Amino acid sequence: MNTTFVDACNRRSPEHTPVWFMRQAGRYLPSYRAVKGSMSVTEVAKDPALASQVVVDAVEALGVDAGIIFADIMLPLEGMGVEFKIEENVGPVVTNPIRDIDSVNSLREVDPETDVGYVLDGIDATIQKLDDSVPLIGFSGAPFTLAGYMIEGRPSRDLESTKRMMYRDPQTWHSLMGALTKMVVAYLDSQVAHGVKAVQLFDSWVGCLSPTDYEAYVSKYTRAIMASVGRKVPRIHFCANSASLLEQFIETGPDVLSVDWRIGMGEAWRASKGRVGIQGNLDPVLALAGGAGMKRQTKRILDESRGHRGHIFSLGHGVLRETDPENLRQIVRSVHSAKRRA
Ligand code: CP3
Repeated sequence: MNTTFVDACNRRSPEHTPVWFMRQAGRYLPSYRAVKGSMSVTEVAKDPALASQVVVDAVEALGVDAGIIFADIMLPLEGMGVEFKIEENVGPVVTNPIRDIDSVNSLREVDPETDVGYVLDGIDATIQKLDDSVPLIGFSGAPFTLAGYMIEGRPSRDLESTKRMMYRDPQTWHSLMGALTKMVVAYLDSQVAHGVKAVQLFDSWVGCLSPTDYEAYVSKYTRAIMASVGRKVPRIHFCANSASLLEQFIETGPDVLSVDWRIGMGEAWRASKGRVGIQGNLDPVLALAGGAGMKRQTKRILDESRGHRGHIFSLGHGVLRETDPENLRQIVRSVHSAKRRA
């Protein structure tokens, strides 16, 4: 087993900096498009044979140090009774957005083995196909980001309706966050039981909150999730646009913070104060653009991380659709061949 990724999560010193990419199994990859054909993301994710295949194809095509289960943050919400579609080039669209306490009270409790049994079967199949080559990462959406989709009903830039509920109707907000936290805890626990070697919590859009509101409306739920996973496997916290909340994320107890390109790696390492590893943070547009700029900034990120324990090289967000897979292979080669210490 290539242990570089898990070693970095645990802030041990791997022989090279590990690298993987969010959405590495996605539409930019010809093998993914071939498997997917005219199926939706949801249909692929619900078929353990196909879901495991696209993960392994991506790992092999890129030479990365970890795979991530093929699923979507929205899938476990189906078990709670939330109806949605994932529309191409749009994202999740919810049929009946949550607006009041009655709709929160009618949400069902999720039993992962029955409600998302296909994800767990997919994990079993993926681990078997990876055949001890690289570790598999599990994931879940975080309560705030999931609540955002459930309340807005579709992707939204500033999450106005979500924040309006938070401010006007805190009781409904906290009931919803409580129900989602319970689901995430059970979901991640079952993924760990099926053998994932790390988990990543995607709180993609929580960067739209002030530090005061993060503390009042979100942090205790994240803390409960981090505590429930505990020391079983390393925990990665992901947020886009996270620079103003790093200290608060660290206080929720993750092992690694995933940061995007809006913050310098040097600043992220200073915020870490040796308490967490840092994952990131090349701009996905640089991976798409390729060439000398991509090469130079890949080197810069590695240089800024030299001497710090726990760097996992990644993009600041998901791989963009028009990216040439060869660019990602080039990044992997640069990261793997870089000297760890000056
Ligand atoms: O290799 C991988 O990372 C794939 C597994 C994966 C998917 N979704 C499958 C998928 C993961 C880790 C996710 C997480 C996810 N889904 C997040 C958190 C990460 C982030 O981007 O912040 C979010 C917010 C979602 C919701 C969602 N699903 C969005 C915003 C979109 C994009 C819509 C589009 O068409 O561009 C999706 C669709 C989706 N989920 C795709 C994939 C591979 C792309 C559509 C496709 O391949 O057909």
